[in-house]
Amino acid sequence: MDECRVIIMGFGSVGQGVANALSMKKDLIKDKTGIAVKVVAAADSSSSAISQDGLDELLLVKTKNEEGKLSAYPEFGSDVSGADVLDAVEYDCLIEATPTNIKDAEPALSLTLKAFEQGKDVVTSNKGHLALKFKEVVGAAEKAGVEFKYEASVGGSMPIINFTRDTLASCEIKSIKGILNGTTNYILSRMTSEGSDYEVILKESQDLGIAETDPTQDVEGIDAACKTVILAN
Ligand SMILES: NC(=O)c1ccc[n+]([C@@H]2O[C@H](COP(=O)([O-])OP(=O)(O)OC[C@H]3O[C@@H](n4cnc5c(N)ncnc54)[C@H](OP(=O)(O)O)[C@@H]3O)[C@@H](O)[C@H]2O)c1
Repeated sequence: MDECRVIIMGFGSVGQGVANALSMKKDLIKDKTGIAVKVVAAADSSSSAISQDGLDELLLVKTKNEEGKLSAYPEFGSDVSGADVLDAVEYDCLIEATPTNIKDAEPALSLTLKAFEQGKDVVTSNKGHLALKFKEVVGAAEKAGVEFKYEASVGGSMPIINFTRDTLASCEIKSIKGILNGTTNYILSRMTSEGSDYEVILKESQDLGIAETDPTQDVEGIDAACKTVILAN
């Protein structure tokens, strides 16, 4: 393979981070691997930008931040969204970064299974389908003979999954211990060091952008539970 055509599905913090990273690193990736990575589509919840000839990563980010929708991308903006994007362009790899849904794992589950059916590789940061349907999704990737990578779902900045699988391949993992959720770690650390109340620190964390406006997934332990299930699998 000398070219990898990617679709970035979900264009929030992670999707835009991928676009920024590709913009900075695609020459390095080409030098190291010989593979030219080309973004052929990017999609948010209701629109997309699609071009078989490739899109400008930084213009995608600028358009999303300034106009709110990828359909505003010059010339190649589109109202095609969701799974239809996978039929609208030829691609090699789906980068899936839609919101984590721990009720039914959608839309990540359907998008991922559809990409596998199309014979495409998938890279995901999503925890929903991994926590709820791990065996089904991994089994579908194996059956389709494609790559499925999910390092970013747990400890993306301190990779643990490939480390465990490859470097520790001959080891028996007996237990896992660590800080699984940065938001609660921040809140608990400040409560401990300052003796402040939970509500006060939570509000300050939200003002600082450390905790989300709806902090349920973090403070109720849902995020940490999903990560624990993924690591256990
Ligand atoms: N942020 C992190 O540090 C981090 C770290 C590890 C893993 N993750 C996981 O990575 C995923 C993305 O996180 P994020 O922080 O980037 O979330 P985010 O900022 O909320 O962005 C989510 C994106 O997905 C889009 N989206 C929603 N429903 C969609 C659908 N049906 N089809 C296509 N796109 C859809 C949203 O569209 P609109 O823009 O139109 O709303 C938005 O662009 C989540 O599963 C999260 O758990 C995040």
